[in-house]
Amino acid sequence: MAFNPFLGGKRVCLGKTFAETVLKFTLPLFWHHFDIEFATEEHKTVRPHLEILAMSTPVVPVHFITKNKDAEKAMFDKQEEAKRAEEEAARKKMEEERKAMEEDEDDEDDEDDVPEHEEL
Ligand code: HEM
Repeated sequence: MAFNPFLGGKRVCLGKTFAETVLKFTLPLFWHHFDIEFATEEHKTVRPHLEILAMSTPVVPVHFITKNKDAEKAMFDKQEEAKRAEEEAARKKMEEERKAMEEDEDDEDDEDDVPEHEEL
């Protein structure tokens, strides 16, 4: 049977021409900008296939990998920068906590210095 996703006859899809036109413009753009890779190992070895007019469609997760290496690098740099900022914030927080604990300990030491019968 021929592939006819919009079916035909009297009830043919009203958006057929529109949908086909949109696809003619968008699909080449996707190919131009991205490599598309199966996301699961399973699909890399056994290619998924779709039975035409099947009752259910398989879920095929994919990754879009940009062909724009500058953008990829910029994104990588941004992620690295965010990671560094996060680590720096965690380090600062630990440092502050450590200082606060040290100060508390100093205060406790001061209390020990007070003579027991000060009022005498
Ligand atoms: C890839 C995109 C699309 C696919 C695969 C698709 C597929 C279909 C299919 C299979 C039918 C049933 C036809 C029949 O019963 O013989 C249908 C009906 C219909 N579609 Fe689409 N369609 C798509 C996009 C659109 C868009 C974008 C619009 C509107 C802008 C649209 C509007 C309609 C309407 C109004 C009907 C009912 C026609 C009727 O019952 O007389 N479709 N479509």
